[in-house]
Amino acid sequence: PIILIAICALAYLAGSVLFAIPICRLWRLPDPRALGSRNPGATNVYRAGGPLPAALTLLLDALKGALPVWLAQEIGLSVFAQAMVALCAVTGHMVPVWYRFQGGKGVATALGSGLALAPLTTAVLALIWLLILWRWRISALASVIAIGSGPVISALFEPETLPLFGLLAIVIVIRHRNNLIRLTQGRESRF
Ligand code: G3P
Repeated sequence: PIILIAICALAYLAGSVLFAIPICRLWRLPDPRALGSRNPGATNVYRAGGPLPAALTLLLDALKGALPVWLAQEIGLSVFAQAMVALCAVTGHMVPVWYRFQGGKGVATALGSGLALAPLTTAVLALIWLLILWRWRISALASVIAIGSGPVISALFEPETLPLFGLLAIVIVIRHRNNLIRLTQGRESRF
């Protein structure tokens, strides 16, 4: 229906706002696309400016994933439709219309959408992320293992969201291909 198309468009446009960039400008930090991993995401903002701007980037990138899904829930759209909205938000972050379609890796946005749509699954994945980061101090490793666990964890706790977590795992792992290459070469940066 037209309302689903409208919310999907809204989710894509909101997802396309890469908060890492205005936040770095606000903190008078270098553009995150020109430093560290060159990724406009919370991890790379942490490298540039430490925990405060990084936490704000994480929060806002997550909110732009959560808000459109909440809106879809308020309107009473199906879980399948909500999953489409979530994918549109993550797609916006990865191929943003506002930044010549050069975006980020989608982890924070998937976190926000996931919390709105499948809170139990997403809480478990966030815990996995934290444990891996705590043990190995590599954000990309934590992201790849956490989202890679998504299909299994969602099948256990919130099986109607399995297709969403399957697709998210595929696109987010692909987005980390350069991190994975650096990991195998032992060159991935640590916290
Ligand atoms: O979510 C992004 C994170 O998994 C990796 O970021 O900057 O280390 O490539 P980065």
